[in-house]
Formats: sequence, structure tokens, C-alpha cells
Amino acid sequence: MKTATPRPPEELTPQARARRQEIASQAAGPLRPPADIEYSADEHDIWVAVNEALAPVWQRHAADEVLAARDRLGLPRDRLPQLTEVSTLLDQLTGFEYRAVPGLVDKLDFFASLGRGLFLSTQYVRDGASPLYTPEPDVIHEVIGHANCLADEQLAELHRLAGQAMLRVETEVARQFLADVFWFSGEFGVVRQHGRPKGYGAGLLSSYGELRWFPTHAELRPLDVVRMGCLAYDIDHYQPVLFIADSLTQVLDVVGGFFESVTDGQVAAALAA
Ligand SMILES: [Fe+2]
Repeated sequence: MKTATPRPPEELTPQARARRQEIASQAAGPLRPPADIEYSADEHDIWVAVNEALAPVWQRHAADEVLAARDRLGLPRDRLPQLTEVSTLLDQLTGFEYRAVPGLVDKLDFFASLGRGLFLSTQYVRDGASPLYTPEPDVIHEVIGHANCLADEQLAELHRLAGQAMLRVETEVARQFLADVFWFSGEFGVVRQHGRPKGYGAGLLSSYGELRWFPTHAELRPLDVVRMGCLAYDIDHYQPVLFIADSLTQVLDVVGGFFESVTDGQVAAALAA
């Protein structure tokens, strides 16, 4: 999802844009199970290439719980899975289900679904000309990044609590604050393990470049929900500042606890301080 040199979808080749549209048009939406997509051999090859590239980087830079969850989930590595298969695998672990949407959705819709245990996912695949790069979430980010995390009980709970918090608050200011806290946890969260920073956020985990880059280049600040919600960030570049926890249990205590009880008034007070 995160890349050093983003390229907007309108700069895709006409062929890539048409294929993306073809897949997006089959999105069944949040209310129904996803339709199976007939992926091409080239699209399966992109999945295989990204999996192969990420495997050693994950071994080195992914949190222990994520590696264990990946092994429990057991996504195929030799072909792209259908979202229905992802749901079936997750159902046995944490109960999360995947639903297909045609592209980026409004944050309230996205998080509201998370709160109900539904992950709204795209189904199209990034451009094969640069398989380790995508300017926006594609099925590889949604599944390699998020589904492996959603196979972990604590990370699934973090996603759920973020969604439920988004439904509870009423102001756009509070909703954006929650989305920003989630950005620095569910998407770009880092935990210290074995004396080293390890990624547990789906954005980091699905970025071959950034997952290798962050341990030596990002400034790692202590977990702090107010600072996470207040820090400006650029979604089109590697994150120069990340927030590191001592454990995933601490993430669930601090960030999950915040999502569990936050109110519009608390966010307003945090922003005014
Ligand atoms: Fe994501």
C-alpha cells in the first residue's frame, strides 16, 4: 500500500485500468459474500512473486504473533486466493469475513464494517510491471497484510474495537482522529521483540520496501494514542515516525482500550491540549 513513489490509478496503462475496472465491477458489496474472480496466470504470478519477496523480510521484520498467525491461517502461496476462501480460513480462527468493494470506501463504512467483523476488500491486483509496488490498497495488501493480522486474536480485536469506536463517535474530527490512531497501529504499528522493532501493521507488512526500511530509518516513538492521533503524516511516502509498543498485549491495552472508551469530548480535549 505504501510506496516511495506513488502513481495515481489514472496513470495506469489503458489495459491495466480496464482490467481493474472489470474486476471492480464484480464487487458484491458489504452485504453479500464476494464473487469469485477469474484471475489470469499473470495475476497469480504477481501474488507468488510478492509472497516470495516478502517471506524472508517477514522472517526478519514481522512480529512473532503475525508469523504465527500467518502459519495458522495458511493462505496459498502458489496462487491468489478468492476472498471467500480467506473468509473460510479466518472463520475458524477469529470469525472475520471478507466482503468485496470496488475501491477505496469512506472511512465510516470501512470501520463500521470492521466493527461487525467484516473486512471490506478490493479484489484487483497491482500492475505486473512493478509487483512490489502499489499506490493504493489492492488484494495483496488487503489479504497478505490484513488477513494474516486478522488471524491473530489480539489484532482481530484491535480491528473490531477501532470499528466499534468509529460507530460510537459522532463528529468528523473524532472519526479522523480514530482513523489516524489506527493508521499508526493497525496499518503501521511496531512492537519491540527480541530487542528489535518488528512490524504488526498491515501497511508495513505488505510493503516489501518499507518493511526493510523502517527498522533503521524510522524514528520510533513510545506508544501514545494522543500523539498518534495528532501527528500529521503523508500516505504517499514511507513513514518517518512510527510508534513502538513493548508487546501486542500493550497495544491492545493502550490502543484497544482507547478505542473501547473514547468519546467525542475526549478527542476534542486531546486536540485542544
Ligand atoms: Fe490497510
